[in-house]
Amino acid sequence: MNKRYHIVTYGCQMNVHDSERIAGMLSRLGYVSCDRIDDADIVVFNTCCIRENAENHAYGNIGMLKKLKAAKRDMIIAVGGCMPQQIGKADVLCKKFPYVDIIFGTHNLNRLEEYIKAKLGGKKRVVEIYGSEGEVTEGDIPLRTSYPNAWINITYGCNNFCSYCIVPYVRGRERSRRSENILAEARSLVAEGYRELTLLGQNVNSFVSPGDGMRFPELLEKLAGIDGKFRLRFMTSHPKDFSEELARAMASSGKICHCLHLPVQSGSDRILKAMNRKYTSGDYLKKIEILKKYLPDCAVTTDLIVGFPGETDEDFKATLELVKNVGFSSAFTFVYSPRKGTVAAEMPDKVPEEVCKERIIELVDLVNSQTRDVSAKYVGRTCEILCEAYDEKRGLYLGRDEYGRMGYFASDKNVIGEFVDISVKEANGISLMGELL
Ligand code: SAH
Ligand code: SF4
Ligand code: F3S
Repeated sequence: MNKRYHIVTYGCQMNVHDSERIAGMLSRLGYVSCDRIDDADIVVFNTCCIRENAENHAYGNIGMLKKLKAAKRDMIIAVGGCMPQQIGKADVLCKKFPYVDIIFGTHNLNRLEEYIKAKLGGKKRVVEIYGSEGEVTEGDIPLRTSYPNAWINITYGCNNFCSYCIVPYVRGRERSRRSENILAEARSLVAEGYRELTLLGQNVNSFVSPGDGMRFPELLEKLAGIDGKFRLRFMTSHPKDFSEELARAMASSGKICHCLHLPVQSGSDRILKAMNRKYTSGDYLKKIEILKKYLPDCAVTTDLIVGFPGETDEDFKATLELVKNVGFSSAFTFVYSPRKGTVAAEMPDKVPEEVCKERIIELVDLVNSQTRDVSAKYVGRTCEILCEAYDEKRGLYLGRDEYGRMGYFASDKNVIGEFVDISVKEANGISLMGELL
């Protein structure tokens, strides 16, 4: 019988895709995936450290494996990703979890296969973290798990050093892949039947292909030129780099979805400066205006942080104002979490937990009401959904429209991977209920 693996993924889409690369390595080693951790011969935790609670989740879940490992001594436990990549964290993990067999970081993920072989060969423990990023690696074959969507990394790392953020420290400097490799990957994915390609990077707008110097808007247009019916999405865009040229490129092809994730973080210019975001709320609103000039129907989503050091009631009100002004289609809201080693972690005037709680509740209320308003406008409309999955519990198929709204519907036949039209009967927060046409 084949040996089995189970991967637990935390964090962003970058990590989701990295887990597909890990799955590729494990399947080459002869492992097959299993749903239950208890059945696994190898468990890999692909971790995130963007906020304290992301780390706490991982700590809790790795901790729970102590008993299982005691009962199943041959089981291999590997912990990788952003968490161990933090300076000194691998030591902490080693001490806290003596039963973990393999610890690796973000820069040596492609070596996991060798680490597993070393472990199977009798090595007691493998702990290796690379201090810095190497060249972009090409050619590893991921085992994709999100059909009909396929993730394509176009850049790695980040150079922006927003003062609150750990990503530049754990993912290294920004590196772009070569345009020809991205185009070749996209062409073969479309040929294989993938219907949605999502380009990934911490800041896709600053993509510059080594070699031919191709920039993001041109890459997008070239990708949209690939034959076949498919959708193109990309994330994330940094407002400081969002250009009219990109808006124009987005409008140039029906394949590019009319939605943009443009994290604003705060509506207060003082806080944006302290965050090192390099734009003001006015600049942000201007970018939205440019976007809407080319794509009036474009859905805009965002990320928001409350409780950044020194955030006053007035600063917070400015965030609420900006949210009201833009009318986001949906938004992710976070309470600021100090990350060791970042500039903001050393800033004075921490906002008390109670105040953060009040602010996040007020912000979530506002964001939810906007989400509901946008969803309500769908009722009575027909929308094209790319069916992604079947929800066993509800007995319904689901998928998203080009604006990113999730639609649920009944169907007699399996339509996963197909574009279908539904007539929207009801809106429910972020999701739509419809009838297949
Ligand atoms: N590269 C993307 C986002 C990466 S992290 C960008 O620049 O927009 C995803 C989101 O997590 C960020 O947009 C931010 O809102 C949030 N985040 C990052 N660090 C955080 C911290 N220390 N505390 C709370 N939220 C944080
Ligand atoms: Fe973090 Fe800022 Fe880079 Fe996004 S742009 S990953 S928030 S440093
Ligand atoms: Fe988390 Fe690393 Fe992504 S810290 S958000 S998994 S880049």
